[in-house]
Amino acid sequence: MTLFYSLSLLLLSLVAMAGAEYRSIKYKDCKSAFEIIDVQADQCPGDHNYCPFLRGTRPRIRIAFKPNREVKSFDASVRARLAGVSVPFNLEEPNACQNSNITCPLQADQIYYYSQTVHILENYPKVSVQVNWLINDPSNDETEAENKREVCVIFMAKVVDPADIAN
Ligand SMILES: *[C@@H]1O[C@H](CO)[C@@H](O)[C@H](O)[C@H]1NC(C)=O
Repeated sequence: MTLFYSLSLLLLSLVAMAGAEYRSIKYKDCKSAFEIIDVQADQCPGDHNYCPFLRGTRPRIRIAFKPNREVKSFDASVRARLAGVSVPFNLEEPNACQNSNITCPLQADQIYYYSQTVHILENYPKVSVQVNWLINDPSNDETEAENKREVCVIFMAKVVDPADIAN
């Protein structure tokens, strides 16, 4: 084995270890125009109906979807519904084409893995939230007929402290 080869192998395994471990989570497709393949999260144990989001962490969400046409620009927005009230959640990167593992323009019929972190602040209330994640192509917002929600998923999360999930 050449030195170069062993080094490449070492690098590859390091990259693999650094990658987050994603798990598919339960979600609802809210009439997305594009096909939703899967919704995943890291730091989300499988034996829950919701994702425990630890205060002070940045869990990563990954949405796999397949556009049915080309997309030039893509805006992400998140709303959190708690105690019957829907509030906007501040995404650090609202441009879905940037720092999100997808590069625009998107091609039709290819699977993309949009991936984004959410910052769970220490002062968030410890409540269950319904998370509504939208990714919108602004180019057709003015048209009447088309479904304007290209990617729309809903999943449950719960803001917790580390002590809450220790037992
Ligand atoms: C980024 O996208 C590629 C496919 O384009 C996928 O194989 C990979 O798992 C994605 N990475 C993350 C961190 O989601």
